[in-house]
Amino acid sequence: MADIVIDRVVKEFGSFRALQEVSLTVKDGEFVALLGPSGCGKTTLLRIIAGLETQSSGRVVIGGQDVSDLSPRKRGLAMVFQNYAVFPHMTVFENVAFGLRMQKAAQAEVKRKVERAAALLHIESYLDRYPAKLSGGQRQRVAVARALAVEPAVLLMDEPLSNLDALLRLEMRTELKAVLREAGTTTIYVTHDQTEAMGLADRIAVMYGGKIEQIGSPLDIYATPATRFVGGFIGSPPMNFIKVQSSHGTARIGDAALPCPATAESLELGLRGEDASLSANGSGIPFDVRVVEPMGSHLLLTGAIDGQLARIVAPPTAKVNAGERVGLTVDPARVTWIDSTTGRALARA
Ligand SMILES: Nc1ncnc2c1ncn2[C@@H]1O[C@H](COP(=O)(O)OP(=O)(O)O)[C@@H](O)[C@H]1O
Ligand SMILES: [Mg+2]
Repeated sequence: MADIVIDRVVKEFGSFRALQEVSLTVKDGEFVALLGPSGCGKTTLLRIIAGLETQSSGRVVIGGQDVSDLSPRKRGLAMVFQNYAVFPHMTVFENVAFGLRMQKAAQAEVKRKVERAAALLHIESYLDRYPAKLSGGQRQRVAVARALAVEPAVLLMDEPLSNLDALLRLEMRTELKAVLREAGTTTIYVTHDQTEAMGLADRIAVMYGGKIEQIGSPLDIYATPATRFVGGFIGSPPMNFIKVQSSHGTARIGDAALPCPATAESLELGLRGEDASLSANGSGIPFDVRVVEPMGSHLLLTGAIDGQLARIVAPPTAKVNAGERVGLTVDPARVTWIDSTTGRALARA
């Protein structure tokens, strides 16, 4: 079993606290993404799991064993980093074989495992080439194949696709997901790209300021963000936050009234752009459209609700013009209510 338990891990660099009591359990065979903006502590956490960095306090347990005092090599995991190093003086075959050679595997086993990893990543036709003759995406696959060739129980990846162009990134993402599912590898994948995390992960841990804000399936995190930060970080366009006046469990925006929690003094309506629809007769929440962007699959409308910036997604053929005031209908079951003071989501009314 290669489950990973991160138990109240703290990391301090001098007086700066980069990780504040982070706890997370990754199940055997699960794919968890660590997602958050630059500087939130993702790499630091991954390096602590790998053993490349020592935590200030807390424990890391892999497969039931406390590995806090074990060197990286003894932790039985493989890593792929953003600046993946392929060895230029070695052929693709020898690059992929590297970890197996370190383990002093027999030649027949090396050959078998290299060929298997190469086939999974579709690089079998250039095993004899040197990295200089490969594209960036091919080199990236070599780095991933090298990590997979040792058949690690745990694979750690830090922004492994960020050096690739958008199209290749999409292709590699799909491939990685299929390959790792097939191999049943326990994976922790660091990224600042929410679409990557949503597409790949069984569960996402959203990090901010050295803390995990929320852990859940991509759908959970999208549909029920725990905080304003999570709502604003996940989804494209990001969730809109509109300060509203409320009394006795009813929020009023223009002539629209929405049931809301009565517990907070200061409330914000968290509304996803795709959860609002244009009303037929202009009734509902008034939305002043400033810019209309035809995106092909939809229209992206940018404007204001009660003077506050909002982005709404409309059908591609909707008749909306910049400068117009339209009405929005929302399903009360699909909105998020945020306590303005704490930034935390409240239970729905
Ligand atoms: N070796 C270090 N010494 C001092 N501060 C560091 C060191 N490594 C990282 N940090 C700081 O810790 C915070 C988290 O960094 P990092 O884990 O690299 O973030 P992320 O990978 O999410 O972008 C940042 O503020 C960074 O400047
Ligand atoms: Mg990083």
